[in-house]
Amino acid sequence: MKNIAIITGASSGMGKEFVIQADTRYNFDEIWVIARRKERLEELSNLVKTKIVPVPLDLTDNASFDILAKKLEEETPNVQLLVNCSGYGKFGLFENSTPSDNAGMIDLNFKALVMATQTVLPYVKEGGKIIELGSISGFMPIAHVGVYAASKAGVLSFSEALAKELKPKKIKVLCVCPYWVKTEFFNRADEKEHVKKYDVMYEASFVVKKAYNTIDKTNRHYVVPGAYAKLIRFLSKILPHKLMMAIISMAIKFEN
Ligand SMILES: NC(=O)c1ccc[n+]([C@@H]2O[C@H](COP(=O)([O-])OP(=O)(O)OC[C@H]3O[C@@H](n4cnc5c(N)ncnc54)[C@H](OP(=O)(O)O)[C@@H]3O)[C@@H](O)[C@H]2O)c1
Repeated sequence: MKNIAIITGASSGMGKEFVIQADTRYNFDEIWVIARRKERLEELSNLVKTKIVPVPLDLTDNASFDILAKKLEEETPNVQLLVNCSGYGKFGLFENSTPSDNAGMIDLNFKALVMATQTVLPYVKEGGKIIELGSISGFMPIAHVGVYAASKAGVLSFSEALAKELKPKKIKVLCVCPYWVKTEFFNRADEKEHVKKYDVMYEASFVVKKAYNTIDKTNRHYVVPGAYAKLIRFLSKILPHKLMMAIISMAIKFEN
């Protein structure tokens, strides 16, 4: 039986970094990489020595999960690692947003993550690891990013519940809750330059290393990588939402 990793959102940003670091950190027979841009997935073979299996799918399309389920059924691998990293945000006032962007964020960030987890879970055995990409915004409401933050609150809640359910089976679940990370995320999220200056921006390699270290060495259900991000998480724990939202508005100056 093949030991594999499945990583969604692998065509760029943190997903790509999860592939690169998995290659040197673990010993998988194959890494199945999922996203829409096939050529980007294929290019990963040039960066790693583990066999890359591109599975180009649009995860907002329900039929994609049938395709993935069929491939899993045919190959019956042991999935030692699942990373759900596909996701996007869109900044701006809700009244100026489009229904397709809002539905798309909910569909990809939350629904697709749940469906991918459900599709893959029967192939995850004792010792398996599941990493779900949340966000610091999952801990509190954030104006100008309301729907995105709500989708990530869903990811965090789901991940923590699943971690508890899967503990007796010795399968770990970790929700990664980063602050800003330098990726292509902003090409789509901040197309209209709602944020003139970002306070702090972490490297994808740093966030991914923290995620792998946390799931490998601890039993924690979520991780907030970086001191500044941890401070925000701490404040969100002790302050009422209204005050926290005022602090966030000072830290991140969204315009329109
Ligand atoms: N960057 C940040 O500041 C930040 C902070 C906190 C959390 N996050 C979260 O981290 C995760 C990774 O984001 P990132 O920063 O690495 O951004 P990114 O570089 O834009 O990567 C997003 C990935 O999602 C994939 N994707 C987009 N639409 C898809 C679809 N319909 N079906 C399948 N895959 C799709 C993209 O590939 P294709 O376009 O090829 O499909 C890409 O591989 C996301 O969940 C994001 O919300 C990001």
